[in-house]
Amino acid sequence: NEDVLILAIESSCDETAAAVVKNGRTVLSNVISSQISTHTIYGGVVPEIASREHIKAVNYVIRRALAEAGVGLPEITAVGVTYGPGLVGALLVGVAEAKALAYAAKKPLIGVHHIEGHVSANFIEHPDLEPPFVCLIVSGGHTHLVIVKDYGKFEILGRTRDDAAGEAFDKVARAVGLGYPGGPKVDRTAREGNPHAIEFPRGKVDGSPYDFSFSGLKSAVLNHINHAKMTGEEIHVPDLVASFQNSVVDSLVSRTVMAAKEYGYGQVAIAGGVASNTALRAAMEQACNKAGIRCCYPSPVLCTDNAAMIGAAAYYEYCNGNIAGWDLNAVPNLKL
Ligand code: KG4
Ligand code: ZN
Repeated sequence: NEDVLILAIESSCDETAAAVVKNGRTVLSNVISSQISTHTIYGGVVPEIASREHIKAVNYVIRRALAEAGVGLPEITAVGVTYGPGLVGALLVGVAEAKALAYAAKKPLIGVHHIEGHVSANFIEHPDLEPPFVCLIVSGGHTHLVIVKDYGKFEILGRTRDDAAGEAFDKVARAVGLGYPGGPKVDRTAREGNPHAIEFPRGKVDGSPYDFSFSGLKSAVLNHINHAKMTGEEIHVPDLVASFQNSVVDSLVSRTVMAAKEYGYGQVAIAGGVASNTALRAAMEQACNKAGIRCCYPSPVLCTDNAAMIGAAAYYEYCNGNIAGWDLNAVPNLKL
Protein backbone atom coordinates (compact mmCIF):
# COMPACT_ATOMS: atom_id res chain seq x y z
CA ASN A 1 0.00 0.00 0.00
CA GLU A 2 2.74 2.42 -0.96
CA ASP A 3 2.19 5.94 -2.22
CA VAL A 4 2.20 6.30 -5.99
CA LEU A 5 4.34 9.26 -7.07
CA ILE A 6 3.98 10.35 -10.68
CA LEU A 7 6.45 12.65 -12.38
CA ALA A 8 4.34 14.27 -15.10
CA ILE A 9 5.42 16.24 -18.18
CA GLU A 10 3.25 18.44 -20.41
CA SER A 11 4.44 20.15 -23.60
CA SER A 12 1.53 19.96 -26.05
CA CYS A 13 1.26 23.68 -26.83
CA ASP A 14 3.00 26.73 -25.39
CA GLU A 15 3.69 25.79 -21.77
CA THR A 16 6.57 23.56 -20.71
CA ALA A 17 5.39 21.98 -17.48
CA ALA A 18 6.41 19.30 -14.99
CA ALA A 19 4.81 18.20 -11.73
CA VAL A 20 4.98 15.56 -9.04
CA VAL A 21 1.58 14.23 -7.96
CA LYS A 22 0.90 11.79 -5.12
CA ASN A 23 -1.87 9.21 -5.48
CA GLY A 24 -3.56 11.19 -8.24
CA ARG A 25 -4.91 13.93 -5.99
CA THR A 26 -2.11 15.61 -4.06
CA VAL A 27 0.18 18.05 -5.88
CA LEU A 28 3.72 18.02 -4.46
CA SER A 29 5.00 20.42 -7.12
CA ASN A 30 3.59 22.09 -10.23
CA VAL A 31 6.13 24.00 -12.34
CA ILE A 32 5.06 25.87 -15.48
CA SER A 33 7.31 27.74 -17.89
CA SER A 34 5.11 29.81 -20.17
CA GLN A 35 6.19 30.84 -23.67
CA ILE A 36 3.35 33.34 -24.03
CA SER A 37 5.62 36.40 -24.09
CA THR A 38 7.71 34.79 -26.87
CA HIS A 39 4.64 34.26 -29.08
CA THR A 40 2.84 37.51 -28.29
CA ILE A 41 4.58 39.52 -31.01
CA TYR A 42 3.29 37.01 -33.60
CA GLY A 43 -0.29 37.20 -32.29
CA GLY A 44 -0.47 33.46 -31.66
CA VAL A 45 1.56 30.30 -31.07
CA VAL A 46 4.24 29.62 -33.72
CA PRO A 47 4.72 25.82 -33.69
CA GLU A 48 8.40 25.75 -34.66
CA ILE A 49 9.29 28.31 -32.02
CA ALA A 50 7.23 26.39 -29.45
CA SER A 51 9.26 23.20 -30.07
CA ARG A 52 12.57 25.03 -29.64
CA GLU A 53 11.41 26.76 -26.45
CA HIS A 54 10.29 23.41 -25.01
CA ILE A 55 13.74 21.95 -25.65
CA LYS A 56 15.33 24.90 -23.84
CA ALA A 57 13.03 24.69 -20.81
CA VAL A 58 12.19 21.03 -20.30
CA ASN A 59 15.20 19.85 -18.28
CA TYR A 60 15.11 22.82 -15.96
CA VAL A 61 11.38 22.50 -15.37
CA ILE A 62 11.69 18.80 -14.50
CA ARG A 63 14.60 19.40 -12.14
CA ARG A 64 12.61 22.15 -10.40
CA ALA A 65 9.53 19.93 -10.08
CA LEU A 66 11.56 17.14 -8.43
CA ALA A 67 13.39 19.59 -6.15
CA GLU A 68 10.22 21.36 -5.02
CA ALA A 69 8.60 18.01 -4.30
CA GLY A 70 11.71 16.98 -2.38
CA VAL A 71 12.11 13.70 -4.25
CA GLY A 72 14.65 12.18 -6.58
CA LEU A 73 13.96 10.16 -9.71
CA PRO A 74 14.55 6.83 -7.87
CA GLU A 75 11.61 7.55 -5.54
CA ILE A 76 9.22 8.22 -8.42
CA THR A 77 6.77 5.39 -9.19
CA ALA A 78 6.16 6.21 -12.86
CA VAL A 79 6.65 8.90 -15.49
CA GLY A 80 3.53 10.30 -17.18
CA VAL A 81 3.53 12.42 -20.32
CA THR A 82 1.04 14.07 -22.67
CA TYR A 83 1.35 12.33 -26.06
CA GLY A 84 -1.57 14.07 -27.82
CA PRO A 85 -3.46 15.92 -29.06
CA GLY A 86 -1.33 19.00 -29.69
CA LEU A 87 1.48 20.38 -31.83
CA VAL A 88 3.57 17.45 -33.03
CA GLY A 89 6.99 19.06 -32.51
CA ALA A 90 5.96 20.33 -29.08
CA LEU A 91 4.59 16.94 -28.00
CA LEU A 92 7.72 15.15 -29.21
CA VAL A 93 9.91 17.08 -26.78
CA GLY A 94 7.91 15.87 -23.77
CA VAL A 95 7.53 12.34 -25.08
CA ALA A 96 11.25 11.93 -25.84
CA GLU A 97 12.18 13.37 -22.45
CA ALA A 98 9.72 11.14 -20.57
CA LYS A 99 10.94 8.04 -22.41
CA ALA A 100 14.58 8.82 -21.67
CA LEU A 101 13.91 9.43 -17.96
CA ALA A 102 11.68 6.39 -17.51
CA TYR A 103 14.07 4.10 -19.39
CA ALA A 104 17.15 5.32 -17.51
CA ALA A 105 15.43 5.11 -14.11
CA LYS A 106 13.69 1.80 -14.97
CA LYS A 107 10.22 3.23 -14.28
CA PRO A 108 6.95 2.56 -16.09
CA LEU A 109 6.01 5.10 -18.79
CA ILE A 110 2.42 6.33 -19.03
CA GLY A 111 0.99 8.14 -22.05
CA VAL A 112 -1.72 10.65 -21.17
CA HIS A 113 -4.42 12.16 -23.36
CA HIS A 114 -4.28 15.95 -22.92
CA ILE A 115 -8.06 16.25 -22.60
CA GLU A 116 -8.18 13.52 -19.96
CA GLY A 117 -5.60 15.62 -18.15
CA HIS A 118 -7.86 18.69 -18.24
CA VAL A 119 -10.77 16.66 -16.85
CA SER A 120 -8.53 15.24 -14.10
CA ALA A 121 -7.64 18.72 -12.82
CA ASN A 122 -11.03 18.46 -11.10
CA PHE A 123 -9.84 15.41 -9.09
CA ILE A 124 -7.05 17.54 -7.65
CA GLU A 125 -9.32 20.44 -6.78
CA HIS A 126 -12.16 18.30 -5.43
CA PRO A 127 -10.70 15.34 -3.49
CA ASP A 128 -14.15 13.78 -3.07
CA LEU A 129 -15.21 14.06 -6.74
CA GLU A 130 -15.61 10.65 -8.34
CA PRO A 131 -17.13 9.55 -11.64
CA PRO A 132 -19.71 9.48 -13.03
CA PHE A 133 -20.31 13.13 -13.89
CA VAL A 134 -20.94 15.36 -16.88
CA CYS A 135 -17.87 17.35 -17.96
CA LEU A 136 -17.57 20.33 -20.28
CA ILE A 137 -14.05 20.67 -21.68
CA VAL A 138 -13.38 24.10 -23.18
CA SER A 139 -9.87 25.04 -24.26
CA GLY A 140 -8.04 26.75 -27.08
CA GLY A 141 -8.27 23.69 -29.30
CA HIS A 142 -11.21 21.70 -27.93
CA THR A 143 -14.84 21.98 -26.97
CA HIS A 144 -16.32 18.70 -25.81
CA LEU A 145 -19.30 17.75 -23.71
CA VAL A 146 -18.74 14.29 -22.22
CA ILE A 147 -19.95 11.90 -19.57
CA VAL A 148 -17.02 10.77 -17.44
CA LYS A 149 -18.27 7.22 -16.85
CA ASP A 150 -15.22 6.13 -14.89
CA TYR A 151 -11.55 7.14 -14.59
CA GLY A 152 -10.26 7.27 -18.17
CA LYS A 153 -13.67 6.30 -19.62
CA PHE A 154 -15.59 8.90 -21.60
CA GLU A 155 -18.78 9.00 -23.59
CA ILE A 156 -18.84 11.97 -25.94
CA LEU A 157 -22.21 13.73 -26.10
CA GLY A 158 -21.22 16.71 -28.21
CA ARG A 159 -18.38 18.75 -29.64
CA THR A 160 -17.84 21.93 -31.59
CA ARG A 161 -18.53 21.79 -35.32
CA ASP A 162 -16.13 24.66 -36.07
CA ASP A 163 -14.13 26.88 -33.70
CA ALA A 164 -13.22 25.83 -30.18
CA ALA A 165 -14.57 28.12 -27.44
CA GLY A 166 -11.11 29.44 -26.57
CA GLU A 167 -10.36 30.01 -30.24
CA ALA A 168 -13.49 32.18 -30.50
CA PHE A 169 -12.34 34.21 -27.48
CA ASP A 170 -8.88 34.65 -29.03
CA LYS A 171 -10.25 35.69 -32.44
CA VAL A 172 -12.71 38.22 -31.03
CA ALA A 173 -10.00 39.65 -28.78
CA ARG A 174 -7.75 40.11 -31.81
CA ALA A 175 -10.56 41.76 -33.81
CA VAL A 176 -11.14 44.40 -31.13
CA GLY A 177 -7.43 44.91 -30.53
CA LEU A 178 -7.16 43.33 -27.10
CA GLY A 179 -4.23 41.19 -28.22
CA TYR A 180 -3.08 37.65 -27.45
CA PRO A 181 -3.93 35.58 -25.51
CA GLY A 182 -7.46 36.86 -25.82
CA GLY A 183 -9.47 34.82 -23.32
CA PRO A 184 -8.25 36.44 -20.09
CA LYS A 185 -8.38 39.91 -21.69
CA VAL A 186 -11.98 39.48 -22.86
CA ASP A 187 -12.87 38.14 -19.40
CA ARG A 188 -11.43 41.24 -17.71
CA THR A 189 -12.78 43.78 -20.22
CA ALA A 190 -16.27 42.23 -20.18
CA ARG A 191 -16.62 43.04 -16.48
CA GLU A 192 -16.99 46.71 -17.45
CA GLY A 193 -19.55 46.00 -20.15
CA ASN A 194 -23.25 45.21 -20.44
CA PRO A 195 -23.72 41.56 -21.50
CA HIS A 196 -27.15 42.41 -22.92
CA ALA A 197 -26.03 45.44 -24.95
CA ILE A 198 -25.94 43.54 -28.25
CA GLU A 199 -28.08 40.52 -29.10
CA PHE A 200 -25.67 38.00 -30.68
CA PRO A 201 -26.79 34.60 -32.00
CA ARG A 202 -26.49 31.41 -29.94
CA GLY A 203 -24.91 28.82 -32.20
CA LYS A 204 -27.07 25.73 -32.68
CA VAL A 205 -26.48 22.59 -34.72
CA ASP A 206 -29.70 21.17 -36.17
CA GLY A 207 -30.41 17.66 -34.98
CA SER A 208 -27.44 17.59 -32.57
CA PRO A 209 -28.59 19.21 -29.32
CA TYR A 210 -25.22 18.77 -27.61
CA ASP A 211 -22.99 20.06 -30.39
CA PHE A 212 -21.59 23.59 -30.40
CA SER A 213 -20.95 26.12 -33.14
CA PHE A 214 -19.13 29.40 -32.66
CA SER A 215 -18.29 30.48 -36.21
CA GLY A 216 -21.68 32.19 -36.71
CA LEU A 217 -21.20 34.15 -33.52
CA LYS A 218 -17.66 35.09 -34.54
CA SER A 219 -18.95 36.33 -37.93
CA ALA A 220 -21.70 38.32 -36.21
CA VAL A 221 -19.11 40.03 -34.01
CA LEU A 222 -16.87 40.79 -37.00
CA ASN A 223 -19.87 42.12 -38.99
CA HIS A 224 -20.77 44.34 -36.07
CA ILE A 225 -17.25 45.77 -36.02
CA ASN A 226 -17.12 46.29 -39.79
CA HIS A 227 -20.53 47.93 -39.80
CA ALA A 228 -19.44 50.34 -37.07
CA LYS A 229 -16.25 51.17 -38.97
CA MET A 230 -18.19 51.89 -42.18
CA THR A 231 -20.78 54.09 -40.53
CA GLY A 232 -18.25 55.79 -38.28
CA GLU A 233 -20.11 54.60 -35.22
CA GLU A 234 -18.04 54.23 -32.09
CA ILE A 235 -17.53 50.68 -30.81
CA HIS A 236 -17.99 50.21 -27.09
CA VAL A 237 -15.48 47.40 -26.60
CA PRO A 238 -16.58 46.34 -23.09
CA ASP A 239 -20.24 46.05 -24.23
CA LEU A 240 -19.20 44.18 -27.37
CA VAL A 241 -17.03 41.59 -25.64
CA ALA A 242 -19.46 41.22 -22.72
CA SER A 243 -22.26 40.46 -25.20
CA PHE A 244 -20.06 38.02 -27.11
CA GLN A 245 -19.01 36.30 -23.89
CA ASN A 246 -22.62 36.11 -22.75
CA SER A 247 -23.56 34.26 -25.94
CA VAL A 248 -20.70 31.74 -25.54
CA VAL A 249 -21.43 31.19 -21.85
CA ASP A 250 -25.13 30.74 -22.56
CA SER A 251 -24.46 28.05 -25.18
CA LEU A 252 -22.01 26.22 -22.92
CA VAL A 253 -24.08 26.31 -19.73
CA SER A 254 -27.45 25.45 -21.27
CA ARG A 255 -26.17 22.31 -23.01
CA THR A 256 -24.15 21.12 -20.01
CA VAL A 257 -27.03 21.43 -17.57
CA MET A 258 -29.45 19.95 -20.11
CA ALA A 259 -27.16 16.92 -20.44
CA ALA A 260 -26.90 16.43 -16.68
CA LYS A 261 -30.68 16.57 -16.34
CA GLU A 262 -31.46 14.36 -19.32
CA TYR A 263 -28.91 11.66 -18.44
CA GLY A 264 -29.59 11.94 -14.72
CA TYR A 265 -26.21 12.94 -13.32
CA GLY A 266 -26.02 15.00 -10.13
CA GLN A 267 -22.51 16.36 -10.75
CA VAL A 268 -21.12 18.69 -13.40
CA ALA A 269 -17.49 19.71 -13.91
CA ILE A 270 -15.81 22.14 -16.28
CA ALA A 271 -12.23 21.91 -17.51
CA GLY A 272 -9.72 23.55 -19.87
CA GLY A 273 -8.40 27.10 -20.21
CA VAL A 274 -11.84 28.64 -20.77
CA ALA A 275 -13.04 27.05 -17.51
CA SER A 276 -11.12 29.83 -15.77
CA ASN A 277 -13.54 32.36 -17.30
CA THR A 278 -15.27 34.13 -14.42
CA ALA A 279 -18.59 34.57 -16.24
CA LEU A 280 -18.69 30.88 -17.22
CA ARG A 281 -17.92 29.75 -13.68
CA ALA A 282 -20.60 32.03 -12.19
CA ALA A 283 -23.28 31.09 -14.75
CA MET A 284 -22.57 27.35 -14.48
CA GLU A 285 -22.68 27.52 -10.70
CA GLN A 286 -25.98 29.40 -10.77
CA ALA A 287 -27.63 27.07 -13.29
CA CYS A 288 -26.44 24.00 -11.37
CA ASN A 289 -27.66 25.38 -8.05
CA LYS A 290 -31.07 25.99 -9.56
CA ALA A 291 -31.18 22.41 -10.85
CA GLY A 292 -29.84 20.90 -7.61
CA ILE A 293 -26.64 19.73 -9.33
CA ARG A 294 -23.13 19.88 -7.85
CA CYS A 295 -20.86 22.18 -9.87
CA CYS A 296 -17.06 21.68 -9.90
CA TYR A 297 -14.24 23.58 -11.52
CA PRO A 298 -10.50 23.73 -10.88
CA SER A 299 -8.68 26.85 -9.67
CA PRO A 300 -7.43 28.92 -12.66
CA VAL A 301 -3.85 27.62 -12.56
CA LEU A 302 -5.18 24.06 -12.96
CA CYS A 303 -7.56 25.07 -15.79
CA THR A 304 -4.91 26.25 -18.25
CA ASP A 305 -2.20 23.85 -19.37
CA ASN A 306 -0.16 22.36 -16.52
CA ALA A 307 1.48 19.06 -15.64
CA ALA A 308 -0.29 18.42 -12.32
CA MET A 309 -3.45 17.51 -14.23
CA ILE A 310 -1.38 15.12 -16.37
CA GLY A 311 -0.05 13.53 -13.18
CA ALA A 312 -3.60 13.05 -11.89
CA ALA A 313 -4.72 11.39 -15.14
CA ALA A 314 -1.53 9.30 -15.30
CA TYR A 315 -2.24 7.94 -11.81
CA TYR A 316 -5.60 6.51 -12.89
CA GLU A 317 -4.09 5.13 -16.11
CA TYR A 318 -1.40 3.50 -13.96
CA CYS A 319 -4.06 2.00 -11.67
CA ASN A 320 -5.85 0.66 -14.78
CA GLY A 321 -2.59 -1.00 -15.89
CA ASN A 322 -2.16 1.19 -18.96
CA ILE A 323 1.62 1.25 -19.26
CA ALA A 324 3.05 2.55 -22.54
CA GLY A 325 5.72 0.80 -24.61
CA TRP A 326 9.05 2.36 -25.51
CA ASP A 327 7.57 2.99 -28.95
CA LEU A 328 5.18 5.62 -27.51
CA ASN A 329 4.92 8.40 -30.07
CA ALA A 330 3.35 11.86 -30.27
CA VAL A 331 -0.14 11.73 -31.81
CA PRO A 332 -1.11 15.29 -32.79
CA ASN A 333 -4.77 14.46 -33.55
CA LEU A 334 -5.31 11.86 -30.82
CA LYS A 335 -9.04 11.13 -30.36
CA LEU A 336 -10.73 11.00 -26.97
O1 KG4 B 1 -6.34 24.62 -21.91
P1 KG4 B 1 -5.52 25.71 -22.50
O2 KG4 B 1 -4.47 26.36 -21.63
O3 KG4 B 1 -4.76 25.20 -23.78
C1 KG4 B 1 -5.33 24.30 -24.68
O4 KG4 B 1 -5.28 23.09 -24.41
O5 KG4 B 1 -5.88 24.80 -25.68
O6 KG4 B 1 -6.53 26.79 -23.06
C2 KG4 B 1 -6.11 27.98 -23.63
C3 KG4 B 1 -7.33 28.75 -24.06
C4 KG4 B 1 -7.00 30.00 -24.87
O7 KG4 B 1 -7.83 30.04 -26.01
C5 KG4 B 1 -7.32 31.13 -23.90
O8 KG4 B 1 -7.71 32.33 -24.55
C6 KG4 B 1 -8.46 30.53 -23.11
O9 KG4 B 1 -8.10 29.17 -22.93
N1 KG4 B 1 -8.66 31.19 -21.81
C7 KG4 B 1 -9.75 31.88 -21.47
C8 KG4 B 1 -9.53 32.40 -20.17
N2 KG4 B 1 -8.28 32.01 -19.78
C9 KG4 B 1 -7.77 31.26 -20.80
N3 KG4 B 1 -10.90 32.09 -22.13
C10 KG4 B 1 -11.84 32.84 -21.53
N4 KG4 B 1 -11.69 33.40 -20.30
C11 KG4 B 1 -10.56 33.20 -19.59
N5 KG4 B 1 -10.42 33.74 -18.37
ZN1 ZN C 1 -4.97 22.32 -22.79
